Amino acid sequence: MKLPKAKNINAEKYVAGLSKFKQKFAKIKLSANESALGPSPRAVKEYIKVSKDFKRYPDSDGTFLRKTIAKKFKLDQSKIILGSGSDQVIEIICKAFLSKNDEVVLSQYSFIIYRIYTKLNSAKVVYAAENNFTSSVDNILSCVTSKTKIIFIANPNNPTGTYISKKEILKLRKKLRSNILLVVDDAYFEYVNSKDYECGLKLFTKFKNVVITRTFSKIYGLAGLRVGWGYASKNIVDSLYKIKPPFNVSRPALFAASVAIKDTAWLNKEIMHVRKWSKIFYDVFKKLNIHTNKTSVNFSLINFDRVKKNSKQVFYALAKAGILLRQMDAYSIKNSLRVTVGNSKENLKLITELKKILNV
Ligand SMILES: Cc1ncc(COP(=O)(O)O)c(C=O)c1O
Repeated sequence: MKLPKAKNINAEKYVAGLSKFKQKFAKIKLSANESALGPSPRAVKEYIKVSKDFKRYPDSDGTFLRKTIAKKFKLDQSKIILGSGSDQVIEIICKAFLSKNDEVVLSQYSFIIYRIYTKLNSAKVVYAAENNFTSSVDNILSCVTSKTKIIFIANPNNPTGTYISKKEILKLRKKLRSNILLVVDDAYFEYVNSKDYECGLKLFTKFKNVVITRTFSKIYGLAGLRVGWGYASKNIVDSLYKIKPPFNVSRPALFAASVAIKDTAWLNKEIMHVRKWSKIFYDVFKKLNIHTNKTSVNFSLINFDRVKKNSKQVFYALAKAGILLRQMDAYSIKNSLRVTVGNSKENLKLITELKKILNV
């Protein structure tokens, strides 16, 4: 019997940060860069209230949430597009701009979703080498050809946790041909506390050839609700709207996000918690001879070259103890794991278990 045959897909499948180990949910999940303290209690309350009524479709364009976002960041509401997570905004951008023969330049260790959607749209990925796990604008520029259509840059980047300076990212835009689209992914910008850094939204709102993406999955703690957004010139956003699936963000998600975004006190609490623990993690890792860069976000990329156990052994030993980190095979980053800052109890447990595993 002949069966329907799907077309050949040459993109890798996205493998999410594990929740389970040996069929059991892990007690401590530090594998997906989710928020340490969870969502604002006010957002949870709103979610519970709104989720009882699901007879009707959500507002397809999420007008109320876009209005709230526009007010908070002083933006033009008509230039905002909502996605079921910022992943979907990235997917829509790729669908709207990429065809066969186009090229997309990515930093070597940039967030994996960019390469997946590039390939799904039959375009080619060109990788720019990094310096010490940090994007290099000069290397990106040297990869640009007449076929280059998009440059994606997560600033800061996942999984490396590093960022490029305001000066560098402005230089990148300035040196690119005007018809190359620059996508600046601001997923983790709230955590950064450096004088030479500026988020994409502050730098590029007036540019006609830049899209900025944002998410409610990280600092806002709404990963499970799937809400993200993009901001771009009217021309670009109109093209994206032609592709956006209708009703792509559910009603409870729209309302919970509208409340979460206003709870600045809660956000600040999360930021302070992450800064405190990032510093503690850095010092502990250093003492344990686990190599890492200073991180500007809620996670760290850690390397085990200088200790007696390798990353696989550490990963499985932690998993057995109920703690899940993220393996880095998909990124071909050798002998390394990525660890997200959790709540204080989780972080203390991680430190205790690491010490046990490494015999110190
Ligand atoms: C850099 C970056 N961008 C975007 C996303 C996607 O987030 P979401 O689709 O949940 O908004 C992630 C998630 O890990 C990320 O690390």
